[in-house]
Amino acid sequence: MPLVTSTEMFKKAYDGGYAVGAFNVNNMEILQAITEACREEHAPVILQVSKGARAYANHTYLVKLVEAAVIECPEIPIVLHLDHGPDFETCKACIDGGFTSVMIDASSKPFAENIEITKKVVEYAHDHGVVVEAELGTLAGVEDEVKVSAEDSSYTHPEEVEEFVTKTGCDSLAIAIGTSHGAYKFTAAQCTRNAQGILVPPPLRFDVLEEVSKRLPGFPIVLHGSSSVPQNYVKMINDHGGKMPDAIGIPEDELRKAATSSVCKINIDSDLRLTMTGTIRQFFDEHPDKFDPREYLKPARANIKELVRHKLIDVLGCAGKA
Ligand code: G3H
Ligand code: 13P
Ligand code: ZN
Repeated sequence: MPLVTSTEMFKKAYDGGYAVGAFNVNNMEILQAITEACREEHAPVILQVSKGARAYANHTYLVKLVEAAVIECPEIPIVLHLDHGPDFETCKACIDGGFTSVMIDASSKPFAENIEITKKVVEYAHDHGVVVEAELGTLAGVEDEVKVSAEDSSYTHPEEVEEFVTKTGCDSLAIAIGTSHGAYKFTAAQCTRNAQGILVPPPLRFDVLEEVSKRLPGFPIVLHGSSSVPQNYVKMINDHGGKMPDAIGIPEDELRKAATSSVCKINIDSDLRLTMTGTIRQFFDEHPDKFDPREYLKPARANIKELVRHKLIDVLGCAGKA
C-alpha cells in the first residue's frame, strides 16, 4: 500500500489500547532495521525525519529510501513524518515533498504564537491531505536541533489543551509529562537509588496525561523523548572505548503503561543510536583489522532490528496490529 497518514492508525491505536512506534530515520541501515522488524511483526509504523536528518542525508534520498521500504513492505501501513518541524517553511517543503504527516514544534513560543504558527501549518497541510502533530509544554534534553535545558522545560498545562486543539485544528498533540530527549534524561540528583543501588528516575506525570485525556476524549496524544536507554548497550559502548557515564532513560514499564492510554505515538530515536554505536564499537574492538562498512553495519542493523522488535512486542503493544 502507498504511504498513509496516521489518522486511521491512531484511531485503531486509541481504541485498541496500544501505541504506534515512531522511529527516526537517518540512513539506509536504520530504515531497513525498523521496517524489517515491523514487517515481520505485522506492525504499523511511523518513520520520522528530523531537520538534522534532512541536513545530513538530503530530503530526496530519505524520501526515496522510504519509498523503497514501502515497496519492500507492502503489507504494513507506513507514515512518513517530519519530526520537530521548526517553522512553516520546513513543514511546507515536507508537505510538498511527499510526507504524509508533519510536526510543527512551536512549543518554545508563547501560547498565542504557538497557536498562530500551528494553525498556519494545519491549514496548508490539510489542504494537501497531510496531518499535523503539534506540541504544548517543553521537554528537556539535547539533540542536534532540539536543545532545552531542564530549567526551561515545563510540563503541559492541561487547562490549555482544549483551546489549543480547537483553535489550531491539529490532528495529534505532543505533551510534556517528564520524558526528555537524548541519552541523559535525568541527573543522578533527580533520581533515587533502589535496593540494588541502581538509579531510578522520577516517575512520569501520569496525572497530567490523565487530565489531558479527560479534556480531549478520543484525541491522540504523542510522547517524545521516550527512549529507555538500554543499559546493555550503554555498557557495550563503555566497555569498548566509549564514555557515557550516567546515561539513563525512561523505564519501559512506564512507556508500556502510557501506550495503553490515549498515547497513540511514542517517539524512539536515541535507543537506535546507542544500539548502532555499541555494536560498531564492539566490532572494531574485536576486529581491529576490518575496514569494510558492510561488515560492521550488518551486525549494527541486525541489533537495531531486534531492539525495534522488542519495542513493538513488549513496549508499544502494536505487533500484529497492521
Ligand atoms: O527529538 C529529536 C530527535 O531525536 C531527532 O534528533 O535532531 O539529532 O536528528 P536530531
Ligand atoms: P529519544 O531521544 O528519547 O529517543 O526521543 C526521540 C524523539 O522524541 C524524537 O522526536
Ligand atoms: Zn522529539
